[in-house]
Amino acid sequence: MKAMVFTKFGPPQSVLQLQEIPQPKPQDHQVLVKIHTSAINDYDWSMVRGKPYLYRLMYGLGKPKIPVPGMELAGTVEALGPEVTSFKKGDQVYGDTSAYGFGTFAEHLCIHENALVHKPANMSFEEAASISHASMLALQGLRDLGKIQEGQQILINGGGGGVGTFGLQIAKQYNAEVTGVDTGEKLNMMKDLGFDYVLDYRQQDFTRKGQQYDLILDCKTTRSPFAYLRSLKPKGRYITVGGALPRLLQMFLLKGFINRFSQKTLDILPLKPNKGLEYINQLYENDQIKCIIDGPYPLSEVPRAIQYFGEGKHAGKVVISVCDP
Ligand SMILES: NC(=O)c1ccc[n+]([C@@H]2O[C@H](COP(=O)([O-])OP(=O)(O)OC[C@H]3O[C@@H](n4cnc5c(N)ncnc54)[C@H](OP(=O)(O)O)[C@@H]3O)[C@@H](O)[C@H]2O)c1
Repeated sequence: MKAMVFTKFGPPQSVLQLQEIPQPKPQDHQVLVKIHTSAINDYDWSMVRGKPYLYRLMYGLGKPKIPVPGMELAGTVEALGPEVTSFKKGDQVYGDTSAYGFGTFAEHLCIHENALVHKPANMSFEEAASISHASMLALQGLRDLGKIQEGQQILINGGGGGVGTFGLQIAKQYNAEVTGVDTGEKLNMMKDLGFDYVLDYRQQDFTRKGQQYDLILDCKTTRSPFAYLRSLKPKGRYITVGGALPRLLQMFLLKGFINRFSQKTLDILPLKPNKGLEYINQLYENDQIKCIIDGPYPLSEVPRAIQYFGEGKHAGKVVISVCDP
């Protein structure tokens, strides 16, 4: 089968190569999936470059531990391990595989059945590949940790990316008033999608505008915890899903102290892959959520697509077309 393989860390376009590798066989609880589509994520950008260096503790110290990147898939079940109970051959599935392994930039993957859910029949493979990771960060950030309430004023920092575009649509289920912060070129798309207000982070610092929010969902975390506190209403909550490592460490070290002595809450989301996908499926089936897709690009263009993602040139989710259904 064809797969996008790397054997050393470096710029995606220098180290990733499309190669023929043996097709795996499913063991025990594993399902063999023929992958139709995948999507690019922050994990791929970090894993392939081995940066930030701290991440090499996960991805391999000197050279990559995982030969094929990619952590989202949509595809068809082709074979089953002897212990599989949730799926049968021919089922259409999708999911974020990161809790069980990587390797979705390939024509096939053997993965634990718990990494997959059934794909609604009316959802395309492109849409399915774009949903599992970003929508779960948004849902778990806003609903589970952020305790979103009807009619709140919410700000999404990084609103034009994968998490932000799903975050807006989830927040609108609660009739929230939503401000999105991102780069100038993405602001029109964000307005069209339904953000009430948009801000260009290159022109304005939202933490210095004097405006306060009930809930902030941050995909970028580039400022100190005290800057975010300034932008929260008295009982407001700030949830980060990711961002600059030094800022996340600062948040991790200070949030316990701040939360104890303030009515405001700061928190970091630890993602539980696929937990809540049934809610997103329901929204999709009721026509209450749509996927913002950049692409799809062919498997051979994964190196360029990862670079493009890393440079922040994309809008919504960058989707890869692997094999035709
Ligand atoms: N919590 C967890 O367990 C977990 C697990 C996996 C991943 N993550 C994290 O989740 C996040 C994924 O976000 P995503 O997929 O939505 O990323 P994304 O698609 O890259 O979106 C981020 C958006 O933020 C914009 N942006 C860049 N710098 C900004 C700034 N200073 N202020 C405001 N906006 C800015 C980017 O635009 P430009 O770059 O064009 O300016 C981009 O549109 C990442 O931080 C990732 O590390 C968390």
